[in-house]
Amino acid sequence: MNTETRKSVKITTYRKEHVNLFITLYRQIFNSPPWNEEWDEFGVEKMILKSASRKRFLGYTASIGNKAIGFLIAYPLSPFFPFNRIYYLSELFIHQNIQGRGIGEKLCLNFFTALSIQNSSGVILLTQKNSPAEKFYMKIGFNSLSSFIKIQGKIIMYLNLQNNNAKRTYYD
Ligand SMILES: CC(C)(COP(=O)(O)OP(=O)(O)OC[C@H]1O[C@@H](n2cnc3c(N)ncnc32)[C@H](O)[C@@H]1OP(=O)(O)O)[C@@H](O)C(=O)NCCC(=O)NCCS
Repeated sequence: MNTETRKSVKITTYRKEHVNLFITLYRQIFNSPPWNEEWDEFGVEKMILKSASRKRFLGYTASIGNKAIGFLIAYPLSPFFPFNRIYYLSELFIHQNIQGRGIGEKLCLNFFTALSIQNSSGVILLTQKNSPAEKFYMKIGFNSLSSFIKIQGKIIMYLNLQNNNAKRTYYD
């Protein structure tokens, strides 16, 4: 954990002028191992525009100075009760050169705070089994539901906000 780096990172609400930075960073990260996906600019743009147009969308941009270095994108699992009380964490990524310095967790804590204020039940996500991302999510309080459901090699993880089991809190 690098406290100085984490403190120098500013978290702001995602805005549509961030879209090109989002696309560039997303392709850099997810077209590389362990993801090895094949995203072109158009595909990423379509995905982020669709996500951002959803009701009660929440997005955050992490920046150092005026350089965006990470994003978190989420929206309710369904528009209807009770699944509208659960958020789907659709995207989370940090620039490769600056991972492991507390920025992913800082983005998540901003997001969880916003969810607590609106009394959401929890956060659900899909990630690759046995990946570094799975370990990261476990560390910040998610549990794996992998013994029940697997989707195309990916596992479902859940964080129960009502039990307040996000394990760690930072004040900076
Ligand atoms: C996964 C990701 C978002 C995590 O963000 P990050 O800024 O690198 O992680 P943080 O520094 O905030 O880590 C928070 C805690 O999780 C731990 N952690 C992070 N990655 C870990 C790993 N691979 N193994 C074990 N623990 C890990 C950290 O050690 C830290 O705990 P500590 O303070 O006790 O040391 C980031 O690494 C990333 O963008 N990865 C590539 C894209 C990706 O996989 N996104 C998720 C797709 S579902």
